[in-house]
Amino acid sequence: MPEAPERGSARMFFALWPGADVRRSLMRQGLKMQRALGGKLTREESVHLTLVFLGDVALERLPALQGRAAAVRFEPFVLRAEQAGCWRHNGIGWVAPSETPFALTRLVAGLEDALQGEGFRFDRRPYAAHITLLRKARCAPMDAAMPAIDWPVRDFVLVRSELGHEGSRYTIVERWKVEEES
Ligand code: 2AM
Repeated sequence: MPEAPERGSARMFFALWPGADVRRSLMRQGLKMQRALGGKLTREESVHLTLVFLGDVALERLPALQGRAAAVRFEPFVLRAEQAGCWRHNGIGWVAPSETPFALTRLVAGLEDALQGEGFRFDRRPYAAHITLLRKARCAPMDAAMPAIDWPVRDFVLVRSELGHEGSRYTIVERWKVEEES
């Protein structure tokens, strides 16, 4: 018998997910910022950079979402996190590239086009590439300089977010790798 589609909905987003080395470097930077700004440090296994935030998606639409994502072409690139900051309006302490790499902008645009084509709605705020390291930080004037962290990007992921006792828990639903040139 064919499997029945899952019922209900889940909070979903597309993201870049760092490997162990980059994650450790980001955590070191996060700890340094926490000493200056307080707040709650992102759990090591949760560090990511959001590409497109979808919010609640009906689970029966997941296969369509995954199908569209699989067709998005992108190039490998290096994301250099070299700027640290803190947003007062939401208490988020973050690191980011000083300029968004073109390949990243293109990947986000490619995903947005694909999702729109399938009738998905998503957050349409202007894209601000950042990696959240602190929440509930006491933002104060700070030094934006940091030791650069080079993150080689070769894949992106679809993530499911569930609210637990200690904040959001993330599960990677699927990963798409860049196609190697032959
Ligand atoms: P943030 O880290 O700046 O909060 C999962 O919630 C991820 O999606 C987070 O990285 C979060 O960014 C991002 N995100 C983008 N738009 C969002 C929204 N409208 N609500 C919640 N999270 C959002």
